[in-house]
Amino acid sequence: MEDTLKQLVEQARTSIAATATQAEYEAAKARIVGPNGSFTELRKQIGTLPKEQRPVFGKLVNEAKQAIEAVLDEGRERLRRAEIEARIGPAIDPTLPLPELPQGTFHLLTQIRTELCSIMRKVGFTIAEGPEVDTEWFCFDALNTPSDHPARDLQDTYYLNAKTSCGNILQRADERYLLRTHTSTVQIREMLKTPPPIRIVSPGRCYRRDTADATHSASFCQMECLAVDKGISVKDLKAILDYIFQSLLGKEAKTRFRPHFFPYTEPSFEVDFYCGHLKRLGKDWVEIGGCGMVDPAVFDAVGYDSELYSGYAFGFGIERIAMILHGVDDIRYFYQNDLRFLRQFAQV
Ligand code: DAH
Repeated sequence: MEDTLKQLVEQARTSIAATATQAEYEAAKARIVGPNGSFTELRKQIGTLPKEQRPVFGKLVNEAKQAIEAVLDEGRERLRRAEIEARIGPAIDPTLPLPELPQGTFHLLTQIRTELCSIMRKVGFTIAEGPEVDTEWFCFDALNTPSDHPARDLQDTYYLNAKTSCGNILQRADERYLLRTHTSTVQIREMLKTPPPIRIVSPGRCYRRDTADATHSASFCQMECLAVDKGISVKDLKAILDYIFQSLLGKEAKTRFRPHFFPYTEPSFEVDFYCGHLKRLGKDWVEIGGCGMVDPAVFDAVGYDSELYSGYAFGFGIERIAMILHGVDDIRYFYQNDLRFLRQFAQV
């Protein structure tokens, strides 16, 4: 009897070990401990034994039962693990590079922005960032452009719904949020944060209610610059613009100012540059941005002493620079993500 039990346990071990699926396991299990299973049948024989043999047989049956349960548990665990492994697939090393994916490169606008920032860092400017959603005060009022000022109409913009809440951007009573129309907002934000002297550049995205065509887009990028210190004059403004365009285009590049009006600078100019040595640009002066000496009203708005300090500011479009430098004749190419266009400027 003892041998029969041992044999049965061995058979159970072999048949459970041979199962490869849940269904096979269940069938094998039923053949052992199911209602008509081999072990079940053997246990029933306990009733047919003489009374004195029953305790010994019962003990052996119990031991065999425990051994079979262990075999079943082990089999179930083996299959469960196999199932998980099959689902996960082969082991991978997540630290390996993905050879099948091509490496991306920076968009042309990002390249130009990075280059401009590094040109400005070399002469002591730091990079400042401001929010694209801003308030009317930062975009207009603080920049000496009150609500009845005609210059405000020129930048009639995208206003956010009056109920919109932008928790991290403080709003005055009855003031609306808008998508900023220029990066000049960052001048105000930085001056409120930092006492003079200050030298910052701020590249970023702006929004205007423009109909898209070859030279207009409702969303575009600008770079703003602000320097405030004692004794800053138009000479410094001219020098920094010459420095930027000579760094970008070569020592032969020149800039010139034409009188203009911006509410936040006095005097104000439009800046043109000239690059006769570059064939593509030819002999024409190309308009590139606006600039001027910070208007005392702007200093008043941020609490700077306009008797003690003076400063210059300028802003220009990053797309425009990219278009001029690379002969791109339609601003919309920058946003269409057509790889045939983008790949021409890929840095490898
Ligand atoms: N904010 C102007 C625009 O978007 C550009 C500009 C003009 C920026 C004069 C300035 C400035 O900082 O002084 O057209």
